[in-house]
Amino acid sequence: MDASKKTHNEQDKQKKVVLTGITPSGIAHLGNYIGAIKPALEMAKNDAYNAYFFIADYHSLIKLWDPKLRQEYIYDIAATWLALGLDPTKVVFYRQSDIPEIAELNWILTSVTAKGLLNRAHAYKAAVDQNELEGKADLDSGINMGLFNYPVLMAADILMFNADLVPVGKDQIQHIEIARDIANRFNHIYKTNTLTVPTAMIEEKTQTILGLDGRKMSKSYGNTIPLFAPSKKLRKLIMKIVTNSQLPEEPKSTENCTIFSLYEHFATPSEINALKERYQNGIGWGEAKQILFEKIDSVLTPFREKYDDLMANRHIIDEHLKAGQQKARLEAQKVLSAVRKKAGI
Ligand code: ADP
Ligand code: TRP
Repeated sequence: MDASKKTHNEQDKQKKVVLTGITPSGIAHLGNYIGAIKPALEMAKNDAYNAYFFIADYHSLIKLWDPKLRQEYIYDIAATWLALGLDPTKVVFYRQSDIPEIAELNWILTSVTAKGLLNRAHAYKAAVDQNELEGKADLDSGINMGLFNYPVLMAADILMFNADLVPVGKDQIQHIEIARDIANRFNHIYKTNTLTVPTAMIEEKTQTILGLDGRKMSKSYGNTIPLFAPSKKLRKLIMKIVTNSQLPEEPKSTENCTIFSLYEHFATPSEINALKERYQNGIGWGEAKQILFEKIDSVLTPFREKYDDLMANRHIIDEHLKAGQQKARLEAQKVLSAVRKKAGI
C-alpha cells in the first residue's frame, strides 16, 4: 500500500517507541535540563518516534519518605517539562502510579526474573558494599525490597509500552540490560515474542555539567542551581560558583571552567566567541558571573513564567496527566492482555 494512504494509526505503528522516566526525587536543576530534559524534548519533536515520558513516582518511594515533598516534586517535574515545551498532544505524558497495569506487569515479570540477576544490580550491590565497609553483621541492613526490585519495576515501565529505545544516563545502562534479559526470559518461557526487547540510547556527547563546587552538578552533592530559581536567587547562586584566585587582568582558560561551560549552553556562537576573547584578555570572575547570570536569566525567564503559572494552577497539570493516563492505559491494556493470555491468566 502507498504510505500516503495509510491511516494515522497505521503510520504510528511503524514508528519506533521512545520511552523514558524521571524520578521525582528533587527539584530540576541546570544539569538535568542540559543533560536530560533538553535532548529528550528535541527527540520528541522528531516525527520518526512515538514518545512516552513519565514521572516515575513509584520509583521515588524507595528513598523518599515525605509524602508532601513527593507531591511537590511530581508537580515540579510535570510543570518543568510542560513549561519547556513538551507537547502533551504529541507525547504521551503520564504518571507511573496512574497506570495500574504497570504494577501488575511488575509482578508477572518478578516471577520470571532470576534473583541472582538482581543480586548483581549496581544499586543493590553498592548498598551491600557500604554495609560491609561499615562492618555491619547484616549486609542487607537498611535495604528495602523496593531497592532490590527496582530494576524489575523499571523493566515493567519499559516493556509495558513495547519501547524500542530508552534514552538514559550512563548509570542506567545496566537497568536496560536487565530489562532486555527479563523480556527475553518471558518470551522464552512462554514461547512468544510478545515483549519487545528494548535498546538503551546513551547521549554520548552530553557533557557533565559542573555544579557550584566544581564537582558534577547533583542533588546528592547539594551543589545545584535549580532550573527555575527566581532571578534574585539565580544571581546569588551563580555568584557562589567556585573560581580560582587569578586576578581580573590575567588571561583565563575556558577549559573546565564552570562559568564558561554553562554559558556555552545558553549563548549564541558569536556570544560564546566574544566571552572567550574576554577570557583571553583578562576578565574578573565577578564580571564573568554577571554576564552568565544575565544570559541564563534572559533565556529562562519566559519558561520560568510558564512554570510559575502552572505551579499556581495545578489543575492544568492534573488535566494533562489525566489525558496522558487515558492514552497510556489504552496501550498498556493491550500489552497486558497479551501477556496475561500467554501466561495463562
Ligand atoms: P541528580 O544527580 O541530581 O540526582 P538524576 O540522577 O536524577 O540527577 O538525573 C536525572 C537526569 O539528569 C539523568 O538523565 C542524568 O544523566 C541527568 N543529569 C543529572 N546531573 C547532570 C549533570 N551534572 N550533567 C549532565 N546531566 C545530568
Ligand atoms: N531509574 C531512572 C532514573 O533514576 C528513572 C526511570 C524509571 C526510568 N523507570 C524508567 C528511565 C524507565 C527510563 C525508563 O533516572
